[in-house]
Amino acid sequence: MSERRAVIAGTGSSLPDRVVTNADLARMVDTSDEWITSRTGIRERRVAGESEPMSLFATRAAEAALAAAGTRAADLDLVLCATVTPDMPIPSTACIIQDKLGARKAAAFDLAAGCSGFLYGLTVAERFLASPQYESILLIGAEVLSKYVDWKDRTTCVLFGDGAGAVVLKAGAPPSGVLATTLKADGALADFIHVPAGGTREPASPKTIAEGRHYIKMKGNETFKMAVRSMEEAARNVLERAGLTTSDVALFIPHQANLRIIDAVGSRLGLRADQVLINIERVGNTSAASIPVALDEAARSGRLKPGDVVLLAAFGTGLTWGAAVLRWGT
Ligand code: ACO
Repeated sequence: MSERRAVIAGTGSSLPDRVVTNADLARMVDTSDEWITSRTGIRERRVAGESEPMSLFATRAAEAALAAAGTRAADLDLVLCATVTPDMPIPSTACIIQDKLGARKAAAFDLAAGCSGFLYGLTVAERFLASPQYESILLIGAEVLSKYVDWKDRTTCVLFGDGAGAVVLKAGAPPSGVLATTLKADGALADFIHVPAGGTREPASPKTIAEGRHYIKMKGNETFKMAVRSMEEAARNVLERAGLTTSDVALFIPHQANLRIIDAVGSRLGLRADQVLINIERVGNTSAASIPVALDEAARSGRLKPGDVVLLAAFGTGLTWGAAVLRWGT
């Protein structure tokens, strides 16, 4: 029997309508457009409205991906949602999305790996598709981090944006599809990016809320250094295992965390500027949504052609990191 490969049959994305610019933030906290642009590359981000949960954008992105793939929701075998910002703690948001889509026969679950969530999800989906029991998988990366951000904390509130990206993965055959993936984690560094309260260790209470412990806390500098090293190492790992080099890469789509991180990883890998996709200036850091949103932009703008080698790399809370390399086409 010929090799089964996980191929991307369609992509979709959805962002909130509301745009928050650096000038808007400068009116809320002690910051400036100059500081944010020069330190992060971000000029504006999209922010969900009060009554807009993560599942809203996830479902819209999923519908666009299903339409692009020509797949009916009813034919999906699995709905996988990579997120750390679920609609509510119980149940998983994947089940809510499954219902909204009408994906009646699909299994559904969430996967929490922060900004590496899409790559963790891609690896899980790829393994599911290796089994003939699964033919069609919807993988979504979606976040509404704005609701975990302390809008008085200038060290975090300038970084994040909301949104969702999705792909429909199908069992296909070479030469297209996922060629190699790698995933890593180091839980000893869990406090680099975390939300201390609101879970079972420190349930939400008037005290945790008064102390702002339900907001995201981050050691930005330490995270920065780790991000550059880990993304470079993971990218080299997958290229080597796929028998490819950086000169074979048509497009590198890194997690959009910080323009300086992207530039540092791109230059360490020896990639030219035209090989690297950057959209952080418009969307900020959308965590698990970052790679699939960028992938959808690349697919829809015609930047990806059948046969192109696409390299993906991410790092995030956990800490987690990873990379994947795939050949574009169905
Ligand atoms: N505006 C103005 N000044 C600021 C701001 C701001 N928004 N934020 C911090 N500063 C100040 C600091 O207080 C500090 O002042 P000080 O020198 O007087 O103490 C100064 O700017 C420099 O701060 P640094 O933290 O050293 O700045 P740095 O150049 O490292 O940039 C940043 C900070 C942008 C956070 C960077 O470290 C970064 O991008 N790190 C990676 C973060 C990341 O990618 N996280 C992703 C994980 S998300 C997830 O997984 C869900």
